[in-house]
Formats: sequence, C-alpha cells, structure tokens
Amino acid sequence: MNKIYIKTWGCQMNETDSFMIRKILETNTKYKHTNEYKKANILILNTCSVREKAQEKLFHQLGRWKKLKMLNSNIIIAVGGCVANQEGEKIYKRAPYVDIIFGTQTIHLLPNMIEERIKKNKIIVNIKFKGLKKFNYFSNKKHINPKSYVTIMEGCNKKCSFCVVPTTRGKEINRSFKEIILEIKQIVKKKIHEITLLGQNVSSYFYLDKKNKKKYNFTNLLYKISKIKEIKRIRFITSHPKDFNNEVINAYKNIPKLVDFLHLPIQSGSNKILKLMKRGYNIERYKKIIYKLLKIRPNMQFSSDFIIGFPGETKKDFNDTIKIITEINFDSSFSFIYSKRPNTIANKLIDNISLKEKKKRLYEVQKIIFNQTIQWNRRMIGTIQKILVEEKNKNKTGTLIGKTESNRTVHFKGFNDLIGKIILVKITKMKKKYFKGKIVS
Ligand code: SAM
Ligand code: F3S
Repeated sequence: MNKIYIKTWGCQMNETDSFMIRKILETNTKYKHTNEYKKANILILNTCSVREKAQEKLFHQLGRWKKLKMLNSNIIIAVGGCVANQEGEKIYKRAPYVDIIFGTQTIHLLPNMIEERIKKNKIIVNIKFKGLKKFNYFSNKKHINPKSYVTIMEGCNKKCSFCVVPTTRGKEINRSFKEIILEIKQIVKKKIHEITLLGQNVSSYFYLDKKNKKKYNFTNLLYKISKIKEIKRIRFITSHPKDFNNEVINAYKNIPKLVDFLHLPIQSGSNKILKLMKRGYNIERYKKIIYKLLKIRPNMQFSSDFIIGFPGETKKDFNDTIKIITEINFDSSFSFIYSKRPNTIANKLIDNISLKEKKKRLYEVQKIIFNQTIQWNRRMIGTIQKILVEEKNKNKTGTLIGKTESNRTVHFKGFNDLIGKIILVKITKMKKKYFKGKIVS
C-alpha cells in the first residue's frame, strides 16, 4: 500500500514541519500521503510537549496504533516533534512497538531512517540538533492561496521558567536573510499575497552574512519584504515583549503592509509572577509597547497568551491579570492552566493552588476575553474594513470570502477577479461565524 499518515499536535510550527515531512517523504521515497490511517503502513505522530496533557495524549494515541500493528507487523510507527526531542529513547521504553524516534531538526533524515528500520529491524533514534538543514531538502512550501507561512527562525534563547521549548527546539537558529527573501520571491509567483513570518521568537531574528559582512535584524527583514510588490499583507508569530523595541514599533509607522493586529504574549498581569516566570519585562514595559503602537495605529487590536495558576499566584496576582486584560481590551487569547514541565526552573517551585481554584480562574479569564471578543465584533458593524479577498463562496454563487486584518471572515458580493486583492468592504451584519459586507471600492 505504501502510504503515510501524519497526525499533528501543537503549534503552527509543527503544522509546517508536518507538511515538510510529507513532501520530503513523497519526493524521496515510494510513500504517498493518505488521510486515512487505516490505509497507511507508516504512521507518524508529530507531537507537542508545551503542556503535560499533550504528552499523555501521545501514549494514548500510540496505544491505539499498537492495535493496528498487532494485526499487521509491517506497520512502522514513527514519533517526532517536541516530545521526541524531550524524551528520546524513553518513549520506546514505555511503548516498545515504536520503530522510529526523530527530532524537530532531523525530519529530512526520515527517508534514510525508514530504510534503515526496514533493513535492520531495530529501533532508530535521531533527535540531534543539526541546524536548520531541513529547509535545504524542501522546496514545495505550504500555502493556501493567497496566504503562506514562512519560517524565519526556530528555537529559543530565552529561559522562561515554565517553558520546555528551549530544550525541545534548541537554541535560536536563524535562516539566512537571502534565503528567506528568495523563498518569498518564489512563492509570490504562486499568487501569494499575505505572508506570516514564523518563529518561536521572530523579534529576536538576527543573521550575520559573513561573506558580505552584513548584519540583519527583524526590522531589516520587515522592510525588505514590504518592498516586494506582490506582498500586500505581513503578519508574524510569535514575538516577545522583551525584543519588541522602538525599531519594531516604528516599523508600524513606515510599513502600511503590517496588519493592524498583533499577538504579543504577556502570560500574567502581576510583576511578581512575571519575575518568577523569568520573562524579562514588567507590566509597565508591556503597556508602553501597546500604547506606543496605539499612538501610531489607533485601530490596532491585540491578542495574547496567559498562564493561569502559576506557582505562587495569589488572588491579588490573578486580579492584576484581570486588570490588564480589561485595560488592554485584548481581542482574543490563548489561555491555559500552568502545567509543570520537566527540565524547567518552575518545576522546582511549590505549586500551592488547588486544581479547582485554577479551573475557576481560567474560566473567569476566558469568560472576560470572550465578552471582549463579542464587543470587538459588535463594534465592527458599520465600519469599513480592508479585506484580502481569499476565495469564492462555494455555497453561494456570486459571493466572495475574505479576511479583515484582525482575521475576521467576511462574505460579500463580488466578481472572482477580486481574489488576491485588498478591497474596502463595509461591514453590514454579524452572523454566527462570519460577517456580511458590501464592497465600497
Ligand atoms: N515565544 C512565545 C512567547 O514569547 O511567550 C511563546 C511560545 S510558547 C511555546 C506558547 C505558549 O504556550 C506560551 O506563550 C505560554 O502561554 C504557553 N505555555 C508554555 N509553557 C507552558 C506551561 N508550562 N504551562 C502552560 N502554558 C504554557
Ligand atoms: Fe518558551 Fe519563553 Fe522562549 S515561552 S519559547 S522560553 S520566550
């Protein structure tokens, strides 16, 4: 049958890695991708270890695939992603029917690893960090027209006390400036008009071109990309408040292609907790960034990440988080209960809050942000929004679908030749999952 099935958990970077795995295997082996796991003889799990539950999920999933392997011993099970980097061979000890363990930076070696596994019939493990070599093995980038993700860096040099990423993805590795620009120039030929720059910490991007003795930082990248005529919108995830300096803030003044929307993780509204988290900024600094941006772009909207119930978080600390949520009026968030992770500094802190209390606090945060999202939605009615037209509406002829800068979906009447263009649309109605609008230009 020669089919591969890939299951992906976690962030956008894992999604991008999975697409790379698929393309690398399809190009270099006889295996083709399938969406039906029952039809596959290679089962790949691309894992996430940011929170404990994601790790437990791995062993539950492996248990289910074990049953398939009992019926067909030729099935190969491969585990990759952050749990593989974190646990390595330990995964095999708990699930001895696993055949291959590969890391976030060894996905390009998978064709060889599969061949070796078939020849030698023994567990194959390679989770080394070998730089960003995987990009050299992959040219067919994922893009759902007219948008695409472009990885600019991976890994993290920060040491947030709660986070496993520095151990699972390794130290920051930046792609070459030239390589990134070249990739974007290639993909715009495929009708790509919106780019999302991807990395654990895009704002700390730094590349030294030794040959030309030139240094490039994140804003150099933004200015260069903004000059590519076909690119009409630029987004990025994720940036860190510590590196969000005036140079990046000023880019919002000079680059209209940067969207009026920013995801900037804050984690907590309490300076005491931020210090324990080793985030490297305080609330005053975070607010400064937001207010400087609002001065340049008064309509800018923000989303953030929150960790609830971090060890030592008192009622007062939690109330400080609620305070900042309402003050900044975040449009949306990713909020989770703190999860104790191996090899992290916070692992040693005494977790003194009951699960019941943590759940109560999380519910409160999510309820407040949900209400803020609804308020932001209501405020959209009657406004004129810049829409990137993405596709025709398959369910209603003569109607198009596009996205606002704040990622809201809008349906409106229009001709197909508008696809890929930025147009002005007046928002007329709010439906359950989308808005309705009328073209004004
Ligand atoms: N680089 C980003 C930043 O500046 O914070 C975040 C990357 S991290 C992989 C994504 C999010 O996962 C974090 O912002 C945090 O909210 C969440 N996260 C990480 N470790 C966590 C943990 N131990 N428990 C709960 N949430 C966690
Ligand atoms: Fe994790 Fe902090 Fe880096 S959240 S990815 S260690 S910036």
